[in-house]
Amino acid sequence: GAVAGAGATGIGAASAAGFSGVLGSSDRPTSDHGDAARHGLQTEPFYGARQAGVATLPQAFSAFIALDLNKGASKDSLRRMLRVLSDDAAALTQGRAPLWDQEPWLAENPSRLTVTFGFGPKVMSLIAAARSPGWLKPLPAFTIDRLQDRWNQGDVLVQLCCDDKLTLAHAQRVLLKDSRSFAAVRWIQDGFRNTVGATVSGQSLRNLFGQVDGTVNPYPGETDHEKVVYGRDGFDPWIENGTSLVLRRIHMNVDTWDEADTPAREDAVGRKLADGAPLTGSQEHDEPDFEAKGPLGFPVIASYSHIRRSRTDNPDEKIFRSVYNYDLPVADASGMSRSGEISGGVSNTGLIFASYQADPVKQFVPIQKRLDEMDMLNTWTVPIGSAVFAIPPGCEEGGFVGDQLF
Ligand code: HEM
Repeated sequence: GAVAGAGATGIGAASAAGFSGVLGSSDRPTSDHGDAARHGLQTEPFYGARQAGVATLPQAFSAFIALDLNKGASKDSLRRMLRVLSDDAAALTQGRAPLWDQEPWLAENPSRLTVTFGFGPKVMSLIAAARSPGWLKPLPAFTIDRLQDRWNQGDVLVQLCCDDKLTLAHAQRVLLKDSRSFAAVRWIQDGFRNTVGATVSGQSLRNLFGQVDGTVNPYPGETDHEKVVYGRDGFDPWIENGTSLVLRRIHMNVDTWDEADTPAREDAVGRKLADGAPLTGSQEHDEPDFEAKGPLGFPVIASYSHIRRSRTDNPDEKIFRSVYNYDLPVADASGMSRSGEISGGVSNTGLIFASYQADPVKQFVPIQKRLDEMDMLNTWTVPIGSAVFAIPPGCEEGGFVGDQLF
């Protein structure tokens, strides 16, 4: 009961019923659900060989923040900033407030908060130009892109993920306050997935097109994960236990998606909407059969479908995807048409498409190129932001993220 109650923040009859179920006679939405089942007490480690937030079981909420360094930033100012932000992160992720925190109570429910730092080209050129990985540069231009500079590359990435939005908001505030003498916010990309306990276990989560998303993906513990993300076995890691993040902001036009019927939607991806099974199978994890033909002799899974086009048998071209949804008021950016102008739709919806890989140029770019050439899903999706960050290793207790590079 406690976990379900914690997720029931909506209004209306259903959540009202949920609250009284949890809280007995009182309908007051207090936070008193008992400590035993309190999900808020769960923590993810901050110190360690690798940064948390990459292989961590994804939390319900995220804020991907890009900071641009102030003019006059130097190796020395970066060291000071990373030291302060790492100390903050080490405390906040463990449910402790930094000493001067004016709202220390908001740190009491860490809710698996993770803080992951990433470096853009400018940071690497300031602290360790010779060690800057060759792939740390803007991705090549793709014809489907309608990039808006306000969502593009920044200097420092601060990726916050947390199962509780209030805790996340507080951590964000603390980190931004402590970064403001060094850098300014370029963008903040807020994302969400299902909250804890909301879904049936076993099925991958759904995106805002209603699709089961995340089925074929080298998850931690699976065969390819290590080499895909950390460059073992043949991949060339830029630094041990470091990786890269490609962050693409992709508008999803749910207004025109509304106009497509179920067969058209399933044809575009090659999977069924009801359960994510391939069109040639009956369960989510069935292997798609790309050779199977329908009664008219056409492939059951179309050659232009998203899974056909994004699939690769080349083990050197795999990525680890970790996506969050966004859904914002229309006034902010509006539904965009394919040509990039305002469509007058009622949606400002999409994916914060994050992928981690040892080398984005070798692993991500070939996939994105194929999708650029042909992918039926492009009918409804438009990349509007793009950034690449080097994700340095984690740090030992008392250290700071990136200290190996100084
Ligand atoms: C698979 C949706 C963008 C790479 C899938 C699947 C869905 C999906 C529903 C099938 C289930 C699964 O295996 O996860 C979307 C949506 C996108 C998007 C809605 C944009 C809004 C991208 C991009 C890339 C990508 C930009 C990489 C450049 C992949 C890969 C797979 C996949 C590698 C697995 C293919 C396989 O079966 O081997 N996507 N996707 N997707 N997608 Fe996407």
